Amino acid sequence: MNSSTLAEIDTTTELMTFQTLLTSLENGIFTITVNRPDKLNALNKATLEDLSNALAEAKSNNDIKGIIITGSGEKAFVAGADISEFAQLDSKAGVAFAAKGQAIYKEIENCPKPIIAAVNGFALGGGCELAMACHMRIASDKAKFGQPEVSLGLIPGYGGTQRLTQHIGRGRATELLMTGDIINASDAYRVGLCNYLVTPEELIPKCTEILTRIISKAPFAVAEIVKCVDAHYTDGVDGFKVEVQSFGACCDTDDFKEGSTAFLAKRKPVFTGK
Ligand code: COA
Repeated sequence: MNSSTLAEIDTTTELMTFQTLLTSLENGIFTITVNRPDKLNALNKATLEDLSNALAEAKSNNDIKGIIITGSGEKAFVAGADISEFAQLDSKAGVAFAAKGQAIYKEIENCPKPIIAAVNGFALGGGCELAMACHMRIASDKAKFGQPEVSLGLIPGYGGTQRLTQHIGRGRATELLMTGDIINASDAYRVGLCNYLVTPEELIPKCTEILTRIISKAPFAVAEIVKCVDAHYTDGVDGFKVEVQSFGACCDTDDFKEGSTAFLAKRKPVFTGK
């Protein structure tokens, strides 16, 4: 990353604090750690609310350029929605429960700043769905992925049937969804559920390395890439048309002029996000 860009990032920002999350900001990278290790970081109502608020902060805080989501402790990323909170749901409450989770995960997926899931352990149910809503997944060799809801007489409700199919294809997704099987990190890597497979020690450094490279690029262009990729998966939207419009919008930015001028002058570009 261009060192002058790094130096401009204020790391002294006062961050919000959360009941169920730990957060930190270093060199523009905001790390959100789900912090209920005694419950394997299962997502209860408070955690979902906290995640939503942390995401809002990530979007609005100009010092935050990229985001890592991970889990506390050595065992779990997130072992699912908190089963103790949804055991009593009826159909009406179930619809509201799933819709709320889906809305928050959609915000993650649509976030204009890059988000990487650092999957350090169990990513089950709502945890696998959380990882899949992030723009990329990097797994440690301790990670395990699955959608075991069928074992509870349920199905995934936070987008798992859709995103698992998008990520690994219909046949493999249907098998995992119907069996509730939990797969290890190397199988997840083999089927394309994660971008990289690393040791636990390498997990955060690898996420940081990739995010650092991304946040050295033009932020507007990065945000438009999120929009265009999302368009591919949005019903009734022609992603090619979205791409044409996004390309045009990039042409109006100072960063495009800077990027092309710097290339021709054989120097590194300094992007401002304008
Ligand atoms: N919701 C609520 N609590 C959970 C949880 C979840 N999704 N996953 C784990 N926990 C809790 C356990 O109840 C236990 O709490 P306790 O110590 O108060 O009894 C604690 O986390 C540790 O879990 P435990 O089951 O003892 O660990 P394990 O190593 O034996 O098993 C798992 C690990 C992940 C295989 C097992 O916890 C599990 O199957 N969890 C549920 C996974 C799931 O179905 N997720 C999808 C829900 S939609």
